[in-house]
Amino acid sequence: MIKISVLGYGTVGSGVVEIMRENAELITKRAGEEIQVKSVLDLRDFPGDPVQDMIVHDFEQIRSDEEVKIVVETMGGLHPAYEFVKAALESGKSVCTSNKALVAEYGPELLQTAQEHNANFLFEASVGGGIPIIRPLKISLAPDEILEISGILNGTTNYILTEMTEKGSDFDSVLKDAQDKGYAEKDPTADVEGHDACRKIAILTSLAYGKQLDFEDIYTEGITKITDRDIQYAKKLGAKVKIFGSSKKVGDKVLAMVAPKLITSSHPLYSVDGVFNAILVKGNMVGDVMFYGQGAGKHATASAVVSDVIDEAKHVNINMKTLWSPEKLELLPLDQAASRFFVRIKGDQQAAEQAFGEITPVDAGYDDEFAFVTSEITEGKYQEAAESVEVINKIRFDQ
Ligand code: HSE
Repeated sequence: MIKISVLGYGTVGSGVVEIMRENAELITKRAGEEIQVKSVLDLRDFPGDPVQDMIVHDFEQIRSDEEVKIVVETMGGLHPAYEFVKAALESGKSVCTSNKALVAEYGPELLQTAQEHNANFLFEASVGGGIPIIRPLKISLAPDEILEISGILNGTTNYILTEMTEKGSDFDSVLKDAQDKGYAEKDPTADVEGHDACRKIAILTSLAYGKQLDFEDIYTEGITKITDRDIQYAKKLGAKVKIFGSSKKVGDKVLAMVAPKLITSSHPLYSVDGVFNAILVKGNMVGDVMFYGQGAGKHATASAVVSDVIDEAKHVNINMKTLWSPEKLELLPLDQAASRFFVRIKGDQQAAEQAFGEITPVDAGYDDEFAFVTSEITEGKYQEAAESVEVINKIRFDQ
């Protein structure tokens, strides 16, 4: 029998305990051994809850418990999650976490600590919630050079953009509605400004290339500037606006960014709507592979965490090496990245052509502005051209 402890009895932590109980028989068969939750760390007590007798308030009780071989970190936040995870690994316990902030910030260090103590540090739930993407990237796609990762990595923003597209509503009213329905946080900044997707693409890209991509180095643009007019233009172009976390091999460097993009129906992720997430990975041998599912939610996320628990139960005292060194990944400077741009300006076709050269006008019936799509130009060239006109908004056009 393997005993585990859960740090944090919130949405995901309680989901982990529920899955461990409801699917106990199946999990035992698949792990080859019974796995039992022994203790749950939380500041609160939970009288009447199935875990009421397992609650502990002091992490030291878990760290020093020799019987506990696996620690599940579902507290969130950087501190004290980092200190607890580090101490658990140093005590030879394996850790699995759903905490993307922790993984993006301390991934290579915690993997190294795990390796030094013949333990494991797994984080399937940190990206894409219930979607298996970390393990496929590390294991199934191991033979391939990863050429590109394109992910709809945030359910809140995908829901907002989908509602704006389907209902023709503006950003603020859709956000308010999403908050009322519980699809968006009271403080939605991390989602709508792209910070959440940024940490997720930082993790995926670091794993894909085996080197550290600091999330602070990723160009990140949220969806707060997307208006209902942008959506109307997108419709005229037969396109949808989606926010992507993406990275791509360009020569010996990697281009990474988080930004809204226009995609047409020929794009594999065109039909990923609502709160769903999806990730497209291009390998140099396997070609395109796609992962789709619930990027958040109690049971979906907890399912990914429990998959790590089972993996760790099968590898007690055996480190499963993960290639993610602290060495920095070399990024392509953003101004060298090329794409087409959809642009709206205060001005006319002549002004647009003077600034951007060859363009294709887009008419959505607004007389007080001029909109167009550029040919493929670099970000540097776009910036230079944009300085000579009054830009209302621009969105990168993927295809
Ligand atoms: N706020 C995130 C989302 C939750 O909307 O996708 C999962 O990380």
